[in-house]
Amino acid sequence: MSSMREFENKIASDTVYRVVELQEFLELSAEEIEAIHNVSHRLTPKLQDVVDRMYDLFTQQDATLRHFARPQAGYDGPIPERLEEITPDHPYMKQRKVATLRFLVGLVSRPFNTSAIQHLDWIGKLHNSQAGSRDFKLPAVQFEAGMGFISASLISAVKTLNLPRSQESLVLSGLQKMCWILNDVLLNRLADPPVADVRPNDHRRNLRVESD
Ligand code: HEM
Repeated sequence: MSSMREFENKIASDTVYRVVELQEFLELSAEEIEAIHNVSHRLTPKLQDVVDRMYDLFTQQDATLRHFARPQAGYDGPIPERLEEITPDHPYMKQRKVATLRFLVGLVSRPFNTSAIQHLDWIGKLHNSQAGSRDFKLPAVQFEAGMGFISASLISAVKTLNLPRSQESLVLSGLQKMCWILNDVLLNRLADPPVADVRPNDHRRNLRVESD
């Protein structure tokens, strides 16, 4: 068995490995994912409202609003220069909402596989100048607030579907686990660079491989 230090390094630097470990630990099952996919056609019409409310919250405070006065990937329109210009209807914000909606629809309807995990990782990088805009570093608390909002909103949306209890319970537990995993992947990219990479080389040279 490889040492604990090697395990931690791999967890910190290999996102797919990290997610597979988390998925196993949380027991996110194929049954739960299938249950989510089975109701996604009823869930997706409710996601626009989730996104609208989330961006209304983002526009209420300068601390979050300030992030929308910079270029963003895939957008060639006008960039707001002053915070007062950044209304929920600004083309920039409309583009952000379209992208976030697309992301959430994908989360509840597409396979949770390697390419989905790599996409999550790219999104994490986008929010920490490792992709997209070079001067964008989102404070961790804003990610957590956003993910908490998404998670709570998904629970509320699922409850309005009036699913049979056993089905609802599978959908809810699956979504909660996916939200925790998503939160972890996004937050891990805010560590700059991933935690294990900053350890001095000396420590790694001195690794002792433990065996059981
Ligand atoms: C809470 C969870 C969040 C999720 C799931 C999320 C999702 C996304 C996605 C999917 C993209 C890429 C869109 C694309 O072009 O395809 C993106 C980019 C972006 N997000 Fe977030 N976001 C979150 C939190 C936030 C917060 C809290 C803010 C600011 C208050 C923010 C601001 C931005 C900005 C400015 C971009 C464009 C970055 C660039 O292109 O360089 N996001 N987000």
